[in-house]
Parts: sequence; C-alpha cells; structure tokens
Amino acid sequence: MIKANELRQKFLDFFREKNHAIISSTSLIPENDPTALFISAGMHPLVPNLLGEKHPAGTRLANFQKCIRTGDIEEIGDLYHHTFIEMLGNWSLGDYFKRPAIEYSWEFLTSKKWLNINPDKLGVTVFAGDQDAPLDKEARDIWISLGVPQERIGALGKEDNWWGPVGQTGPCGPDTEIFYWISDQRPPKKFDPKDARWVEIWNNVFMQYNKTKQGAFEPLKQKNVDTGMGFERVLAALNGFQDDYRTELFKPLTQGLENLSEKKYGVDEETDKMMRIIADHVRAAVFILGDDYGVTPSNLDQGYILRRLIRRAVRYCRQLGIEVKTNAAVALARKVVEIYSKTYPELEHNKDRVFNELQKEEDKFESTLEKGLKEFQKLGKDRLIDGKEAFKLFSTYGFPLEMTQELAQEKNIKVDVKGFEKEYQGHQKLSRAGAKQKFKGGLADETEQTARLHTATHLLHAALRQVLGSHVEQRGSNITAQRLRFDFVHDEKLNHEQIKKTQDWVNDKIKKALSIKCEEKTVKQAKEDGAIGIFTQKYGERVKVYTIHDPGAKEIVSMEICGGPHVQNTKELGHFEITKQQAVAAGVRRLKAVLK
Ligand code: SER
Repeated sequence: MIKANELRQKFLDFFREKNHAIISSTSLIPENDPTALFISAGMHPLVPNLLGEKHPAGTRLANFQKCIRTGDIEEIGDLYHHTFIEMLGNWSLGDYFKRPAIEYSWEFLTSKKWLNINPDKLGVTVFAGDQDAPLDKEARDIWISLGVPQERIGALGKEDNWWGPVGQTGPCGPDTEIFYWISDQRPPKKFDPKDARWVEIWNNVFMQYNKTKQGAFEPLKQKNVDTGMGFERVLAALNGFQDDYRTELFKPLTQGLENLSEKKYGVDEETDKMMRIIADHVRAAVFILGDDYGVTPSNLDQGYILRRLIRRAVRYCRQLGIEVKTNAAVALARKVVEIYSKTYPELEHNKDRVFNELQKEEDKFESTLEKGLKEFQKLGKDRLIDGKEAFKLFSTYGFPLEMTQELAQEKNIKVDVKGFEKEYQGHQKLSRAGAKQKFKGGLADETEQTARLHTATHLLHAALRQVLGSHVEQRGSNITAQRLRFDFVHDEKLNHEQIKKTQDWVNDKIKKALSIKCEEKTVKQAKEDGAIGIFTQKYGERVKVYTIHDPGAKEIVSMEICGGPHVQNTKELGHFEITKQQAVAAGVRRLKAVLK
C-alpha cells in the first residue's frame, strides 16, 4: 500500500535529488491563454518555456499540477476517467533528453529506495514511426540497456505514442509509456498494451517538434522532456485497484453517497456509475470554485462548465434517491476539502465561497429541476426535441444543453443542437459555442494584442489601487483578443468619476511611454520589494516580476509577480477605455476594458 501523500512526496524528493527545482501547481485557469478554459496538462503552463522562453526556476523542473479535462466529460462514470486530475511531472527544458529521462523513470519505479516495483510487472511502449517522425529506436535501445526484455517493449503509432500539442499548434513529440500489471495473476511474458490489466502509469514525452498551423512538424529550438503520471490512476494501480474510486482520494465520497442514498457501492453497475459521476463532478467543482481565480457558476466559459458539473451531480443525486434537504453537494464538498486541503491550502482558504456557491447553485437548480423534468416528459413525441424546446428547458428550467441531450439519449430521442444554438445566440451576445471552441482552439495565442491587454491589466490594477485604495486586490483576470476582464476586491459600484479617474491614470502612463522591465527573484524577495499579483508559488521559488517605472516622477507605477508576456513600452498600448462594470460576487467587482 502506498498513501497519496507519500507518493506525491517521493516523486518530488526523487527529482529534487536529481537537481530539479520543485515548482508549485499553477491555478486551474490559464491566465494568459485566451484559447483554453482550463489547464489540462502538467506541461500546459510551461508551453512558453518548452518553446524556448527561459523559466525562472531553471531547466530541470518537477511538480504536481491541478488539471481539468473537459474532453472526457462523457467518459466520466467509468473506473478511471476524471474531470479533475493531478499530474505528477518532471521537465527538461533543453537540458537532458532521452537517456536520463528514461533512466530516471526506471530508477524511481524500480529502485528499493523509491517505489520498489518488481520490474517483471512493467512493460513499455515506444513510438513506431510514421511520415512525420521515425521509429524511436533510441528509446527502445535505452530500455533494452536497462534490462527490459524485448517482448516487454511495444511500438505504437501516433494515436498512442505521441503527445501534444495541447491545442491545435505547439510543442509535441513522440513518447514512451510505462505500463504496470495490476492483476493478481502472474504477468505474461509478452506485453500487450491493449490488455486492460496493463495500466499506463507514466508518459515520457520527447518534445522536439512544434506543430504549425499548416500541420507540419518542425524541429523545436531545444529538445525537451515532458513527463506525466496521472496521479489518481497511478495511486490506484500501485495499490492494486482497478477502480480509482476505491482509493483514499474518492473513498470518503463514495462512502458519503452510500450513507446519503442508503445504497451500496460495488453492487449494481448503474448505481456505481451514478456515484462515480457525482463524486467526480463535485470534486472538480470544489477545485474550480476553490481556485484563487474564483470562477462562479454562470452561462459562460468556465462558469458554464462549472454549472454543468454541479447540475449534473445534483440530478444524479435525485436519481439515486437522495433527498433535497440533505444538501448532498455541500456535504460531499466538505469531504473533498478534508481530503485535499493540506496539499492545496487554497481549498481551506476559499472553502466558505465553495460551500456557499455550491449551495446557491444546488438551490437554484432544485427549484426548477422537478418542473423541468415534467416538461421534458411531454417532449419528443416525434423522437426529436427541437431547438426552441431545448432552449426553453435551458432558459426556464436551467437545463444545460448537455443534460437535455443526456436525458434524451436515455429515451432514444434526438435533440436539435443547431436549432438550440440559434435560439441561444438570438438571446445572448456571447454564446456557449464560444466556450466550446475554446476547448478545441489552439494554445498560447500570444499575439501582440494579448501582450498589450496584459500590460494594460497591470496598469488598471495599479490605477484602481490609486483611485479606490489599497484594499483592491486581483481576484481574476481573463484576456481575449478583443478585451481584458479584471475582477477585484471592492464593495461598491464605481461611480462615473472613479471610472474616469482610473481611465485617465492608465492613459497618462501610456502617454508617458514607460518601459516594462522583467526580473527574476524569489517570491520572498519580490514581496519584500512590494510586488503584488495572484501567484501560487511558495516563498522560496523563483518567479518573474514585471515592473513599470516612471523615471520622471521617480516612482514605481506597477510591480507584479506574473508569467507574462508583456509589451516593452506602455506607448504600444494606444488608448485605454473601460467598457463595462459588473458585480461578480459579494465584494468582488468586474471591469472590462479595451485598447483602441
Ligand atoms: N503532457 C503529457 C501528458 O499529459 C505528459 O506530461 O500525458
């Protein structure tokens, strides 16, 4: 048996010994990537560094990273897909390449000092080669040199042994994967990666290509290593479970559901599936709500994903026979916070918000769910729910489209999705389709415009602290190619004069043509120097600090811990204009602004 904490700790200790800097998990919300809603892989926040930008912590890194994978949402309910996952990873940014990467994984897994796995229980695959890149003979030879028998080395194509890019374009490459035999029976001599008893536990990606918009694979400036161990899966496998929900990460949740529903986990497949969906969705919702960027349920972007997760969980709770008054979502959320708050202190810190928002969303949905289900029963006489009907379920009864689709599927009825989108767009300027596109979209849209809006965000933050006071603290930031959005702590609506002052302050700094300087320091040093910003790194870690200095006035205009990118000089921003203000939550306001 190995405990969750022990596994995380061993992984970090091992790579620390191999001279890797341990970096913190970033927020789940990508700050500077308008093309993705959530961080979906350990390497996702490191894309600029894999492409060649210097990382302040060095060229050898390791961590565990919070990830949300929305692509798998339909698969949730099986034994090993999850919306929220933790990724253990180590990286070489143009430092070591194939041999050390493979040797490190082998040593960590098999050495007595570390996981002490019997090598007879391991098999590996390498990239088989195709028109874009050759068979990875080098990786195969390294495995052989470590004593892995030929019949335990498989070779598969792009589908299996290639990873990335995380969006449409970006760093990617062939990978070599390690599989663990989880059955009690003796492992067969010949390894078959398609046999479910061989479970993939580690993916070592040799990121040496950049996929271009045209679909070509160009060699990267530097050869990188990106490895990933899906934590839930590895923990289950190492403890001999085929079902991740049997591990300590989920058990308190399935037990909680057993108590609430008076049903047993592991008896009836349909009940099990519902319990797994509820546990998965509530856990993911807690991590999204508990993130320092504080997303709340809404009909847009991350908020929409969150809403879908909560509502789907609530619906399954009712289906399991769990009564409304039990507030199941919140009861389960408390358990999630208990399981994780030592590893992710932000959950403890933000737990009131997590419980309040969950409660609100559960109540809101509860008030319409029954009626909506009745309404739904009346529909689909001719085996189709048209766009108007699906939209009514959404707008009047709060049914996310995907829930209507799911209910319809159970009755073998179709839903006119295009018709729904049309209705939706007619009612709302910004559409859910926008959110959908972001899952598919390319990563790291670091266009000039994003950098400009990003620098403008720092100026806006500084301006608000001048105009409203130093209680103003960032709560969230989101940039698209068109506008910036900034959430911050402040109780009241800004009046006309405050808006004007803020705008003028920013435009004054733009006119002054101030340069932006980037430095690397430890978090401790940065804080002592007076830097602000949302950051997740610990005190000793090295980070980038962006400073805008006004030499004429001899003052620091803005100093923030931030990953960038930014423009070189404020004169590149043009004219700054605040276009909208809203309240997002108690004590938190939102501004949207553009550059003209
Ligand atoms: N990026 C790869 C993955 O997510 C390896 O870290 O599997």
